[in-house]
Amino acid sequence: MPLPSTERLLLGPGPSPVSPRVTRALAAPSRSHLDPEMVPLLDDIRERLARVFRAGEGAATLAVSGTGTAAMETAIANVTEPGRRALVVVTGYFGERLVTMLGRYGATVERVDGEWGRAIDPARVSEALSRGRFDIVAVVHAETSTGVCNPLDAIARLAREHDALTLVDAVTSLGAMPLEIGAWGVDVCYSCSQKGLGAPSGLSPVTFSARALDRLVACRSFYFDLNLLLDFWVRRKDHHTISAPLVYALDAALAEVEEEGLDARWQRHASVHESFVRALDGLGLSLLPPPGERLWSLNAVRVPDGVEEAAVRKRLLDRQNIEIGAGLGPLAGRIWRIGLMGSGATLENVSRLSDALAEALAGAGQPVR
Ligand SMILES: Cc1ncc(COP(=O)(O)O)c(C=O)c1O
Repeated sequence: MPLPSTERLLLGPGPSPVSPRVTRALAAPSRSHLDPEMVPLLDDIRERLARVFRAGEGAATLAVSGTGTAAMETAIANVTEPGRRALVVVTGYFGERLVTMLGRYGATVERVDGEWGRAIDPARVSEALSRGRFDIVAVVHAETSTGVCNPLDAIARLAREHDALTLVDAVTSLGAMPLEIGAWGVDVCYSCSQKGLGAPSGLSPVTFSARALDRLVACRSFYFDLNLLLDFWVRRKDHHTISAPLVYALDAALAEVEEEGLDARWQRHASVHESFVRALDGLGLSLLPPPGERLWSLNAVRVPDGVEEAAVRKRLLDRQNIEIGAGLGPLAGRIWRIGLMGSGATLENVSRLSDALAEALAGAGQPVR
């Protein structure tokens, strides 16, 4: 089979488009994982990731070889063991994944369930915390399955008041939405490279606060053991053969983040999202979450009654070369998931996508205002 030879506009829930600079970085000459030229690159990436997380003093930050799920497993495997109690906020598909994974690592899990499409009310978390003792409060900051941003700042504050570690999925927020790990008192946070940061998938950021480092368990996983990972990232011992092209690409992507400035990058995502919401309104379309609870990076767009959602996605892909995502779980068939993140968050993409959506909806027999 030939490799793909044409660009496709990636506006689904991830991966996001990769810029020409990041693409070029992938092709730099290879180096081994302990090469003297690799070492400063890894140091650079650690420092830049800590800045992108806005991690606090004494945090340990690195990128796990693997996708966001590998970083999730690293986060969980190093603070979870039988006997530890976790309270998990579940407002969508990825909250469910937290429940599953924490359970697999032996935690006793209790859940606070919220409506899919709404942010959790922190009062619900407060009430659950007052009913028992918990070691961990786990929450998805940016719930990609519903397009909702959970109130992380308030949840982390409550967890601190109850002396629990806050463990956070920031897969769809890092680099795209305000995230202040140190200032908000988040203890363990993981993300991915292929969304807000604009690199290919495969090297996933994770950070542990000083408080979390004091509460590590004896990790049952070899690959995801934080101490072994730090042996490699900091102490230069062999642990695994990190992919040089992915290191180059992440380095280039983080350089782009720093050159733009993190606050400016968040602002770009906000204003592109707002333009898209106006364009959707013009097409007679609306978002699932209410204003104030929406992600800027991922738009959960309601499928109008009578429209076959898969037919619209297929038409966008076949005729316009644009990828958007389908709904997951109970939202399958009811929403499209449209990502405007990383280098894909541009006004040009908003207008290209709005035109393409108008064409696809008309093709699906849906009159457009
Ligand atoms: C919120 C959230 N968590 C975890 C993941 C898993 O990440 P990955 O697919 O990179 O393993 C995703 C993927 O989209 C996600 O959106």
